[in-house]
Amino acid sequence: RVLFLKTVLTLFCVASLFEANAEIKYTIPVGKFFTYELLRETFQNDFEPLSKLYAERFYDDPMVFKCNRQNFPDLPEWLRFTQRHPYDNGFLYGTPTSPGKTVIEIYAVNRRSYDAARHILVIKATAEKTLPYQAEFFLKLREIEKVLPSSVQGEIKQDVQKLWDTKALEIINITNALDRGGRVPLPLAGHFEGVYVKVGSERYFSDCLMRVTTPEHQKQCKAGDKVKVKVPGGCNFCNIPSNCITWCKTELFDLTKRQPAPPAPAMGSGILEDGGDFSAPESPPSRDFFPDYIVTVIVPLILAIVLCLLLAYIMFGRREGVAKRNARTNQIQLYHHHTIHGNADELRSMAADRGAPPPRSTLPMFNFRSGGGAPDSPSIPLILAQHDPYSDTLPR
Ligand SMILES: *[C@@H]1O[C@H](CO)[C@@H](O)[C@H](O)[C@H]1NC(C)=O
Repeated sequence: RVLFLKTVLTLFCVASLFEANAEIKYTIPVGKFFTYELLRETFQNDFEPLSKLYAERFYDDPMVFKCNRQNFPDLPEWLRFTQRHPYDNGFLYGTPTSPGKTVIEIYAVNRRSYDAARHILVIKATAEKTLPYQAEFFLKLREIEKVLPSSVQGEIKQDVQKLWDTKALEIINITNALDRGGRVPLPLAGHFEGVYVKVGSERYFSDCLMRVTTPEHQKQCKAGDKVKVKVPGGCNFCNIPSNCITWCKTELFDLTKRQPAPPAPAMGSGILEDGGDFSAPESPPSRDFFPDYIVTVIVPLILAIVLCLLLAYIMFGRREGVAKRNARTNQIQLYHHHTIHGNADELRSMAADRGAPPPRSTLPMFNFRSGGGAPDSPSIPLILAQHDPYSDTLPR
């Protein structure tokens, strides 16, 4: 157990040593586009550091990356990650919006051996003035991963420099059109997701760029795809077709014309100014609540009492009583009724107990030995033919 603990501790120390080594630091200005390419080759060396040297074997493993801000589940808001395929490099990209230090953890998982490696990326953003003139271009024939390598960014920047007629340009933002409501393209050749590139400069827009704002150009764009939008003469600078911009989606932002932010509210002393004595409002005129009381309390109460009395009369006042009813009933009918009750009771007691005495009806009517007569009062015959009031109604 001690040995195991020691091993774990040693591993821990070694791991933390490696971690300290694997820290990559960047200092970038706020408002400028930042790209960091996660090279699979670098991580490959972490996974099999000696295989190249000794086994002379070169692996090209598929890898997936998981990036997050340290001690947080996700990346900071301004930073995005993309990797098209496990055999492609990944990219972290975005534009910091506020100064500060961000620590990013990058985990790489080797899809062949399922080894994992961790790198730490420390990004320090420093405050910088925003560029006053900004323009956004749409590259229709591009995908974000194809634009993020610095060589491609350079090509695009060169084209824009010619268009803007200045060298002092910075790329401010590059975004996938899918992140801005674009549609996923058909999986066919010649269909791309599209990329937005935002560029800023200290210099005012060139004539070429200003043509975007002319009413003529905007009318052409509104007319739709049928009318071929004429590229403003002499302003087409793209050497590589996939870097050509979609003129109708070009937008210019002049931040100098922006309304200055309203001044922050002035803080007072926290004590209200003296506004004279407080005069309480006059009390409202008194109201007569008696009619309301009658309607809401008395009327329902009376109704309830009346209903109660009615119910009591129906339930108790109109009952005949058993004695009165029995007196009115024919004797034979009453007797019949009682025998039915007696028989039902007898059956019930027999059902409850196996050893119950046999029913009286199976006994002989007259038992000579015991001298018993008929079991029940023989004074009432079972059929009273003469006095039966119902016999008249019976069919003869
Ligand atoms: C860059 O573009 C993304 C996506 O449209 C947006 O969320 C972000 O605010 C932009 N950053 C800057 C600095 O403009």
